[in-house]
Amino acid sequence: MMHSREKMICSILLLIILTSCVSGTFVVNVTQSSYQAEEDQDITLEWTFTTNNHSSSNSLNVFCELLAVLKNPGLFHLREGVEVPESRHEQFAGRVQWDKDVLREGRLRLHVSRLRTNDSGLYVCKVLTRYGRNSGRCRLNVTAARDRPKPETPNTTSPPKTTSPPKPTSPQQPESLGWMVFYCVVILCWLFFCIFLEKFCKKNC
Ligand SMILES: *[C@@H]1O[C@H](CO)[C@@H](O)[C@H](O)[C@H]1NC(C)=O
Ligand SMILES: *[C@@H]1O[C@H](CO)[C@@H](O)[C@H](O)[C@H]1NC(C)=O
Ligand SMILES: *[C@@H]1O[C@H](CO)[C@@H](O)[C@H](O)[C@H]1NC(C)=O
Ligand SMILES: *[C@@H]1O[C@H](CO)[C@@H](O)[C@H](O)[C@H]1NC(C)=O
Ligand SMILES: *[C@@H]1O[C@H](CO)[C@@H](O)[C@H](O)[C@H]1NC(C)=O
Repeated sequence: MMHSREKMICSILLLIILTSCVSGTFVVNVTQSSYQAEEDQDITLEWTFTTNNHSSSNSLNVFCELLAVLKNPGLFHLREGVEVPESRHEQFAGRVQWDKDVLREGRLRLHVSRLRTNDSGLYVCKVLTRYGRNSGRCRLNVTAARDRPKPETPNTTSPPKTTSPPKPTSPQQPESLGWMVFYCVVILCWLFFCIFLEKFCKKNC
């Protein structure tokens, strides 16, 4: 009994160490996990990845796409350090630019202009190099331009204020209250389960 438990703990530890070793050498991060924008605005999506001084940028392969339900439109493709424009889906044609200069520093910056609401979704960039591979993902939410609330507020400080209040409005309250009750019940159940487990262990172990 004791032996098998130790064995299990050991294998779990080993698994943790192994996964951290494998994924720890080469990472792809996102500077922002989620972006919010309005239709027709421009945005810069940014990923960072581990760099290695010994490898030149022509060993770099990057493939970015928008994860969609039916098809995954390609956003950006770098093969051996060279851009492959044919891989870009027509949805993004003429709307994507990238910073060549910062790529060397391990920063992938993609500027997408004239956003559309159907650009919304999960963007994933896979980075493959001679010294490792990984991927990073971020979410973009493009909302339709408002029905002219802008002419009302020529002040630059006011539009952000008008966008933030809708969040804490009362209609959302009952829903979040329901979730809170649900979480409380789950936590209580978990607590009872732990107490039960402790008693059970004291009796049997
Ligand atoms: C990725 O993020 C981790 C944790 O924030 C940080 O320690 C690491 O330096 C980052 N690496 C790159 C290449 O951005
Ligand atoms: C990589 O280059 C930087 C600056 O060029 C240098 O400070 C650093 O020591 C180099 N690292 C390795 C592992 O060669
Ligand atoms: C996205 O919307 C634009 C117009 O806003 C349209 O031309 C394009 O076909 C749409 N793309 C997809 C994949 O639905
Ligand atoms: C996108 O943003 C709008 C406005 O803030 C919000 O109502 C909506 O829930 C967001 N959608 C997602 C998928 O985050
Ligand atoms: C801009 O905002 C200030 C206070 O925030 C207000 O006094 C002023 O009247 C506003 N200007 C216009 C044109 O609405």
